[in-house]
Amino acid sequence: MYLRIFLLAVLSCAFCRAEVKIPPKLNKNRAEVLSYFAKNVYGVVPETSFVREAKVVKTEKVPEFSATRKVVRISTFTPIGETNFNAVCYFPDGVEKCPVFIYISFRPATDTKNSRWPIAQILERGAATVAFCYNDVLKDDPNVLKGDQKIQVRRDDSWGAISAWAFAASRVVDYLETESLVDQSKIAIVGHSRLGKTALWAGANDTRFQMTVANNSGCFGARLHSRNLYGETIDLITAAFPHWFAPNARKLWCGKDYELPFDQHWLVAAVSPRLMAIGSALDDWWACPPGEMACWEYASSAWRDKSSINYHIRPGMHDITSRDWKEYLDFAERKKWFTAK
Ligand code: GCU
Repeated sequence: MYLRIFLLAVLSCAFCRAEVKIPPKLNKNRAEVLSYFAKNVYGVVPETSFVREAKVVKTEKVPEFSATRKVVRISTFTPIGETNFNAVCYFPDGVEKCPVFIYISFRPATDTKNSRWPIAQILERGAATVAFCYNDVLKDDPNVLKGDQKIQVRRDDSWGAISAWAFAASRVVDYLETESLVDQSKIAIVGHSRLGKTALWAGANDTRFQMTVANNSGCFGARLHSRNLYGETIDLITAAFPHWFAPNARKLWCGKDYELPFDQHWLVAAVSPRLMAIGSALDDWWACPPGEMACWEYASSAWRDKSSINYHIRPGMHDITSRDWKEYLDFAERKKWFTAK
């Protein structure tokens, strides 16, 4: 498989415009990196006085999972105002203080047959898991930030949907901090694709996430722009999904993928020394696995303990599968997350 990816990269270099470019050296500290990416890519979360609330609205035993399910109603804040969303949590029976894997979901969190969120596989390891649906926070629609009465003028650094979804993930942690079943030092944020970009932005900003998982996250995720061989470009992503970013992302960087003064390994490095996992899929040409692998390689220098940043690539298409989850759970196990069981 590694031979295949190597050949893919070599052929791509030969036939595409790709060049092997060394990405810009990280020349900022963590706080500077975060404010740089906020202003120039994902948008700045404004100061807000919204009332943070999380209410457990339902608690029930789920014998088929040997777990307790809690449904929590959580308040959050988005570029179009305050809103509420439900987080669905499963706590395994018999574990006093659980690690928790928060999954930002494309599908409703009430869907227990979602292959991308393998509840039983996670619970079996002695971890709890929580999911919320990103669309319940802010609709994933290019028009969502346009023409709304509640939205004043959108500034060049105003926040977009990725920031709003990441902000909501932090509101889930606010709730978990009040939950006695949780080991506060072992909270992971997991996302796939656009939600892998979201997980990376959330994990870089909020140090309460002790593990960040960016699965097939591609452009503006854990993939170098300067090593994009044949996948999505800044032009394409900001034209198709303008609502994901601050207007600056397009204004400043469109067409400049190979000449940026930064690259995504800076953001990945902002997660260090906490745990970071990057996952690729071999046939996911749009996300560009060689660029994700290179992002891992360049970001790694930020970790003194190299075993705290994990990279894997599996055969197959763009997806988060139980094979990927096994990789993330095994990584957590190697880092002693499951000793409590
Ligand atoms: C589109 C988009 C990607 C994104 C993906 C997804 O393909 O171009 O950037 O990662 O959707 O979220 O599935």
